[in-house]
Amino acid sequence: MHVTTISVPLGQRSYEVCIAPAGATDMAQKIATALGKPTGVAVLVDSRLHQLSARVQPLVEALAARLPRVRRLDLPAGESCKTLAAIEHSCDWLADNGYDRGAALVGIGGGATSDHTGFAAAIYLRGIAYATFPTTLLAMVDASVGGKTGVDIAAGKNLVGAFHQPRAVMADPGFLESLPEREIAAGMAEVVKAGLIADAPLLDTLEAQAGAAMPAETLAKVIEAAVRVKVEVVVADERESGRRAILNFGHTVGHAIEAASGFQLLHGEAVSLGMIAALSLGVARGVTEPALLARATALLARLGLPVDVKRRLAADVLDRMEVDKKRVSDAVRFVLVPREGQAIIQGIALDELKRELLAAL
Ligand SMILES: NC(=O)c1ccc[n+]([C@@H]2O[C@H](COP(=O)([O-])OP(=O)(O)OC[C@H]3O[C@@H](n4cnc5c(N)ncnc54)[C@H](O)[C@@H]3O)[C@@H](O)[C@H]2O)c1
Repeated sequence: MHVTTISVPLGQRSYEVCIAPAGATDMAQKIATALGKPTGVAVLVDSRLHQLSARVQPLVEALAARLPRVRRLDLPAGESCKTLAAIEHSCDWLADNGYDRGAALVGIGGGATSDHTGFAAAIYLRGIAYATFPTTLLAMVDASVGGKTGVDIAAGKNLVGAFHQPRAVMADPGFLESLPEREIAAGMAEVVKAGLIADAPLLDTLEAQAGAAMPAETLAKVIEAAVRVKVEVVVADERESGRRAILNFGHTVGHAIEAASGFQLLHGEAVSLGMIAALSLGVARGVTEPALLARATALLARLGLPVDVKRRLAADVLDRMEVDKKRVSDAVRFVLVPREGQAIIQGIALDELKRELLAAL
């Protein structure tokens, strides 16, 4: 079985991402070592995962055998834990249970759980340590790495948050056994993104496997490759002032489509459509090789992701583009992929971007 440790070198905030289908004991030991000597540990678990997966309880018990004062708090399932009210509830619970500044949090769940756990850790007593066990493909390859944490507010997703790096991330692909196929496909969209922006051979691997059940060892390698892309980009630009923006490939339009669907589309499904829109724009601008658009569309479709972007994109959808975070004055910093494994950023005026996108599809 393939076991890998990827270092995230961020000076004093360095940590390791471990992809280790090694069973609860080894994983708990690694987290215990990474957390040092905490005064107590609160384990925050996605409540649906806890009901579905027999892997959670042994993991909590293994942590309790190695760390002091381990208690479990079940979080509202999925995105519903990403509210300020849920964060307040967790912080109240931590205070009621006597967790002090030497305590640490451990999150077990998908990206929503790691965003909640990281944000609670960032603000409880002005900051305590945390680690995560990502249990969805999306969380393993994307949400658990990079130190962005936060919650949603009425005005939009992820609008309140903090940068707070974990002490360790422990990804066990065994957790994916209970994850619905649709969620696996959504995670694969971010893997395809990693291949498109920075790892051409990853696309070859996905093409060789798409449509069939991926053997565990290949899945672990695919996760590793995608994590390496995210780590490389994040380390180069921890606070998203430059190169990190390439991770937004497919997201500027994807976010608009996701919001316009009333969040009926999963994030990865919207990103699949957003990547096709971005590649189409690239072709229209003479930047992207036309063959790459056809290749990416075929791969995403074979992975079970939506590709019918034309049907979903209208002017009012594009009005929802979350450009504020990516805009420098009036020019949107739009990510284009000229060829496999390469990303560039072009400043495009917002009006022009909307017009060109609609014309390109
Ligand atoms: N911080 C970041 O850099 C970053 C990056 C990407 C996404 N995100 C955030 O991550 C979230 C999306 O992550 P996600 O797709 O993991 O969503 P999620 O955490 O909501 O999990 C998806 C669903 O799967 C369930 N689940 C989790 N693990 C399971 C398992 N092993 N088996 C069965 N069911 C399981 C959850 O209960 C939920 O219903 C969003 O809130 C997004 O904003 C953050």
